[in-house]
Amino acid sequence: MTYVVTESCIKCKFTDCVEVCPVDCFYEGENMLVIHPDECIDCGVCEPECPVEAIKPDTDTSVGEWLDINAQYAKLWPNIAEQKPAPPDAKDNADLPNKRELFSPNPGGGN
Ligand code: SF4
Ligand code: F3S
Repeated sequence: MTYVVTESCIKCKFTDCVEVCPVDCFYEGENMLVIHPDECIDCGVCEPECPVEAIKPDTDTSVGEWLDINAQYAKLWPNIAEQKPAPPDAKDNADLPNKRELFSPNPGGGN
């Protein structure tokens, strides 16, 4: 089992989640984060921290393709272990429709 970052994170990136992760298993893309499924210890503490409820256990039926996306991009993107400021328009982006189409495969800055 692992926890998974899903599409609600796209263009929000609040990063409250990375502050609480005991094993630093978040990785940063240009406009979202992912969790490395082999590093996540399934503690669940990040799930309630996300303001847009983007983090789900892989047992949640809404996870779908995001489990594979997290596994794939966690190997490509840099680690992020400390919170950083969210994009200025993060709150406005919380309810954007069709966020999946906005997914960027490009890496973020990490820290
Ligand atoms: Fe980190 Fe725990 Fe969230 Fe997994 S469930 S990403 S170990 S905080
Ligand atoms: Fe994304 Fe939520 Fe973390 S918006 S960066 S999963 S706090």
